[in-house]
Amino acid sequence: MGEPVQTEVEVEPVNILLVDDQPEGLLTLEAVLGGLGQNLVMADSGREALRQVLAREFAVILLDVQMPQMDGYETAALIRERPASRHTPLIFLTASRMADVQLVRGYSVGAVDYLFKPLDAEVLRSKVAVFVELAKKSALIRKQTTELVQREAEARRLADARAQLLVDLEQKNRDLEAVNKELETFSYSVSHDLRAPLRSIDGFSQALLDDYAATLDDGGAQYLRHVREAAQHMGELIDGLLALARVTRSALHRQEVDLSQLARDVAARLRNHERASARQVEFVVEPGLSAEGDARLLAVVLDNLLGNAWKFTSKRPEARIEVGKFVKDDGPAFFVRDNGAGFDMAYASKLFGAFQRLHAAAEFEGHGIGLATVQRIVHRHGGRIWAEGRVGVGATFHFTLGEGERK
Ligand SMILES: Nc1ncnc2c1ncn2[C@@H]1O[C@H](COP(=O)(O)OP(=O)(O)OP(=O)(O)O)[C@@H](O)[C@H]1O
Ligand SMILES: [Mg+2]
Repeated sequence: MGEPVQTEVEVEPVNILLVDDQPEGLLTLEAVLGGLGQNLVMADSGREALRQVLAREFAVILLDVQMPQMDGYETAALIRERPASRHTPLIFLTASRMADVQLVRGYSVGAVDYLFKPLDAEVLRSKVAVFVELAKKSALIRKQTTELVQREAEARRLADARAQLLVDLEQKNRDLEAVNKELETFSYSVSHDLRAPLRSIDGFSQALLDDYAATLDDGGAQYLRHVREAAQHMGELIDGLLALARVTRSALHRQEVDLSQLARDVAARLRNHERASARQVEFVVEPGLSAEGDARLLAVVLDNLLGNAWKFTSKRPEARIEVGKFVKDDGPAFFVRDNGAGFDMAYASKLFGAFQRLHAAAEFEGHGIGLATVQRIVHRHGGRIWAEGRVGVGATFHFTLGEGERK
């Protein structure tokens, strides 16, 4: 039958109560109804029937009318008094025709039917089957209603938990932002304050070299030059840190930026710096690359990425540096690709940390602050940056620039 819900949910067999003081009567009923596959419960008196009604729920009750002590009608009246069985269908089994039929008709509460003795097995079976079906359907509906209510409650509970999580998350974000701001201010002022003593270390070393040249031997002078080099290196690191801090401190001014033009400007600057170099560097810049972002900060991004590409291809006689974009599901991603020294992908996530370098300073100079700065700028634009590389083959840096500003 076309009842999809019923095939999905198992409905248990229902209880049928058979009430007759005559054992043969009960046997007949059992024989006729056994084939329905339901749970048949027997009672040989009205009192016993009441006891059963208290103990469980019945789909239908078959009541012999003629019983000693308490007849079928009295029993029915008591059954109807109990709230649990007020609406349980009743079928009276009666021998005498007219008088009983009148009585049954006058019996107004709930579903009531009657059958005449001797019982016609077919009629009895089909009547009871109708009530069994009815009981199963209401059990099913009750079950589904309970499930629905439970599911709804569960959904509400989940929604509440989710809302609470969001509230917590927002609070955590605000806390984090505050801590970040504090840390930035702290590192900015520390970096700033370190400059002055460093300047005097460098300055006095220079003064020693200049004014006491006569009393210093070669070894001493050499040591002083090392002191100066180290002080200058530290000065550059501090400048890098200050630049990094400035990226987060300054306001973001979004506008349409011609990235192709910016890349060409950086390339020209790099060439000018290294005019004397014998190597060939081919710059391929895709025309018409435009982005929404802070022009000054995006120039810093390209400065660093192209500067790195230039630096890490410096040992290639024929270098190729490419700037372009490809379109992904979530918008365009720009890339800077080179055929330089490359790097080991196992360390790809380290590249963007401040002072993290994968190459020795003797091989390629640098402070390891460039990509940290680039990443901050990209994040401030709400974008992502990631790198791909292979040792000896080259590296590609991809970045997107989102729409909203992230702190
Ligand atoms: N194009 C590239 N090819 C190979 N390795 C790269 C490339 N760009 C960056 N790296 C690796 O990532 C490290 C970090 O780069 P980053 O730009 O932060 O520092 P740096 O260039 O060494 O120094 P700085 O930029 O501060 O002068 C580099 O030291 C290098 O190991
Ligand atoms: Mg760099």
